[in-house]
Amino acid sequence: MNEFRPASPEKPIVDDKPIIGGKSVGRTIPHDSAVGHVTGSAPYIDDLPRRVDELYVDFVGSPVASGAVTSLETEQASALDGVVAVFTYKDVGKHNVFGPLFCDEPFLAAEEVLYVGQPVVLIAAENETVLAEAKSLIRINVKETAPVLELEKAIASENFIGPKRQIGRGDAETAISGATHQLSGEFRSGGQEQFYLESQAAVAFPGEQGQLVVHSSTQNTTEIQTMVAEVLELQMHQVVCICKRMGGAFGGKETQAVIPALMAALVASKTGRAARVIYDKDTDMSVTGKRHPYLCRWRVGFEDNGQIVGLECDFFSDGGAAADLSTSVMERTLLHADNAYFIEHARFTGQVCRTNIPPNTAFRGFGGPQAVASTENIIQRVAEYLKVDALDVRLKNAYGTDDRNVTPYGQLLTGNHLTEIMQTLAQTSDYRQRQEAIAAQNETDPLWLRGLAMAPVKFGISFTSKFLNQANALVNVYTDGTVQVSTGGTEMGQGLNTKIRQIVADEFGIDWQNVILMPTSTEKNNNTSPTAASAGTDLNGAAAVNACREIRTRLAQFAAGLFASTDDGLIPSPDHICFEGGVVYDSRKPNETISFAELTLKARFERVDIGARGFYKTPGVDFNRETGKGNPFLYFTQGAAVAEVKIDRFTGDVSVPRVDLLMDIGKSINPGVDLGQITGGFIQGMGWATAECLVYGDDGRLLSHSPTTYKIPAITDVPIDFRCELFPNEDNLHCVRRSKAVGEPPLLLGVAAWAAVKHALAQLSSQLPGDVDPNLQLPATGEEVLRCLTEISAG
Ligand code: MTE
Ligand code: HPA
Repeated sequence: MNEFRPASPEKPIVDDKPIIGGKSVGRTIPHDSAVGHVTGSAPYIDDLPRRVDELYVDFVGSPVASGAVTSLETEQASALDGVVAVFTYKDVGKHNVFGPLFCDEPFLAAEEVLYVGQPVVLIAAENETVLAEAKSLIRINVKETAPVLELEKAIASENFIGPKRQIGRGDAETAISGATHQLSGEFRSGGQEQFYLESQAAVAFPGEQGQLVVHSSTQNTTEIQTMVAEVLELQMHQVVCICKRMGGAFGGKETQAVIPALMAALVASKTGRAARVIYDKDTDMSVTGKRHPYLCRWRVGFEDNGQIVGLECDFFSDGGAAADLSTSVMERTLLHADNAYFIEHARFTGQVCRTNIPPNTAFRGFGGPQAVASTENIIQRVAEYLKVDALDVRLKNAYGTDDRNVTPYGQLLTGNHLTEIMQTLAQTSDYRQRQEAIAAQNETDPLWLRGLAMAPVKFGISFTSKFLNQANALVNVYTDGTVQVSTGGTEMGQGLNTKIRQIVADEFGIDWQNVILMPTSTEKNNNTSPTAASAGTDLNGAAAVNACREIRTRLAQFAAGLFASTDDGLIPSPDHICFEGGVVYDSRKPNETISFAELTLKARFERVDIGARGFYKTPGVDFNRETGKGNPFLYFTQGAAVAEVKIDRFTGDVSVPRVDLLMDIGKSINPGVDLGQITGGFIQGMGWATAECLVYGDDGRLLSHSPTTYKIPAITDVPIDFRCELFPNEDNLHCVRRSKAVGEPPLLLGVAAWAAVKHALAQLSSQLPGDVDPNLQLPATGEEVLRCLTEISAG
């Protein structure tokens, strides 16, 4: 077995000694845009005041899912008064095709179209009325071909994106065959719309010497800068991308903000006028990528006591028409197929399929949820088959601390609290007693069928592409003692700016209100990674700390001279200089203080530099894609959820009356923000697992493309009894102030609601002779549950 040492056993990245005067971290200070969000004063892209010369830009997309473009009729639209430009791929130049991993996605479709709505013709007009009229006059003539819309069809025709990947250890096939019991099946999980409130948006301003400034609602300013430069054949230093904030992103703006930004940039560059692109909600939902639907073919071998001895999972994802991030998403799937369990003999394979829907992309969890749902389905099946409680199967197979603690990819699992978390949560949620009560209730209740399940999660923190695990930060201290911080991290509502504000305030021992996070811009922070993989605070917070430490060292040196110069015989010693409560002093004479503001002013007059750029790279992460072995993650965020569901036996309608969550997110930097992330993430995962359903027509057109046809959880779907606790844990020395990433992991806990539905159905099917399994798929919508209920009642 290929074993690796724990990720980064070396020096902790950021020292964990309490910062003297550290007063903000650990407190629930308000989100830095809270007031702006609720009063509407926090500006988004479309709130940027329009310039007088600004053009309205929109596109006309492919009418069909697949075919060869025979002709484009654009003359009538071009001739309209008020239409300034009509562009097709011919106006783009030789770099019309782009992509984050593979260069396979056309900006404007050329000879062939690959999905319904794929941008083909771009129009710029003086106003919205003319723009709408011009759109209606465009004709895109296509010789239609049969689209590939089902995974099976893509698999049969070997229509794949990237190579087949494999991760595993041991000999799964032999182990499964040799086990006392075997089960196998197919499990499907559906896609999911990110449903950010602010649609994809960009405004581009042309500048001198071919320069462009692009304001984009993007998680990845560097990606926008790079792609705009590449496609428009500019140099990178000619393009600046700015993002003040996003009205939600959830992964959907990690790469997919590129096309609208290119549209605005192309028009601005060609016309010399400002250009604005704002997708309306229906367009956004119809043409942008989503969470990947998955098919998992699985086979498991296990013993009477529930011990899993071998597991094989072959994952197929629907990548859509281009690669986007699909192969990375699949990689994370393979790295999470073990979930919380030690599987001695495991073989996980993954293949991305090419189909004729918009390229699927990042969504909170990034392939992890699909893996965890497949695994938890298998755990539920093993429990049903053995007629034991699924929690016992979970505990039996959970990773150990002293042994059974190496993942199939060879990473030693350190800081493992999974069993402790599951046991604690079982107790605090009265899991066992409620199981008994539910079983009794289900015997007699003619209307409601109840289910209860726990799902654990262990989510690996770090980008699995090593180079992305870096960040830089610019910290500018001013002579009134206030501070501006700029990083490559983008704010999408998750509270990154608020947390960095707290971290920086504590570094200087000042009030958090004296620190402001500035708009993200490639002008200040270059070569940045997307704000993704939940690592925003880990990376950018650590880079900011490094910048602050540099400034503090200079200030301490300077202050040491100030304090020692008074006539008391003290030797100047920067080591004794403390920054606390807005003042600075020498610990040897704490009554003599100078305000932080006064110190910064004095420092300027003495020509001490009080600005710095910090850099941080995650140590110890390394994963070999060829061998499928290594330490892809710095550490794991862990947790578990217990969900109770109530099913209407006649309609299949599912509600979730109670949920208990317990999460290990280390020492929380801001418990209020983090609880928001946990509860919000869980509800988003519950939506994916039980309600949200993407419906496509036979022609590949998305039918559920609006809030009226696509059901995300509403406030009435939030469990009436919703309990969320943080698992006390201070052992994460790897991160800023012993915190842990929180953004994505709670979403995976939504699988508990799905598992509870499966449990409820099993209560009925277990009364039938033999091992009847209606094979509940995900999402467990009313229709899907009704299908299962009907199948069970048919015996
Ligand atoms: N929270 C809000 N309110 N809005 C979002 O778009 N995105 C999630 C999560 N929480 C998101 C959010 C996703 S997909 C990620 S990866 C993380 O936030 C990114 O931010 P972080 O790394 O700073 O936690
Ligand atoms: N989530 C997790 N891992 C990732 C992501 C993400 O959004 N992007 C790249 N790797």
